[in-house]
Amino acid sequence: MNKIAVFASGGGSNAQKIIEYFNNSQLASIALIVSNKPEAGVVTIAEKNTIPTLIIEKEKFLKGSGYTDDLKKEGIDLIVLAGFLWKIPALLIKTFPGKIINIHPALLPKYGGKGMYGFHVHQAVIDNKEKESGITIHYVDEQYDHGQPIFQATCPVFENDTAFSLAKRVQQLEHEHYPKVIEEILFNNSK
Ligand code: GAR
Repeated sequence: MNKIAVFASGGGSNAQKIIEYFNNSQLASIALIVSNKPEAGVVTIAEKNTIPTLIIEKEKFLKGSGYTDDLKKEGIDLIVLAGFLWKIPALLIKTFPGKIINIHPALLPKYGGKGMYGFHVHQAVIDNKEKESGITIHYVDEQYDHGQPIFQATCPVFENDTAFSLAKRVQQLEHEHYPKVIEEILFNNSK
């Protein structure tokens, strides 16, 4: 059984979908929710689903051991970022090579990078009059929203869209695809 750690800083709707998807799975379970915000919605979701939570501190995460010992002790096989807003430190990437993935609510390489999250992304897409947006799931490297792409899905951007209406459309894509892509990665890793 593969053990997944979900890292999230916000409401945790993706974390919720991933937990639901793997609820009765033979392939993987959500072993740990990691968050930098004790008051985040995702922490409540973890509690409701009786999943252990690790609340992390910036100094230790970015400059110390990066909590690698805690993650190794839990036997984590895959780290899934779902709205986690801190950069992943080099030591963590080195400890889990090819085992950290992220989802971004736009078609990278466009509209990624520091400060590009949530409504900032969707507003920039609308301001640039893009006809299309979507999601990108990618491996994580030392730059924000940068590593090797794994999967993209697209949706239209309509002329009367607001950041809010576009966010909803993109979020539907995230919920539909992220759990399945995670499953596929784990399945391929186990071959
Ligand atoms: C998601 O839309 C995810 O793509 C985004 O944060 C949101 C988290 O929502 N991540 C980024 O922007 C990373 N640069 P959630 O808390 O409802 O799952």
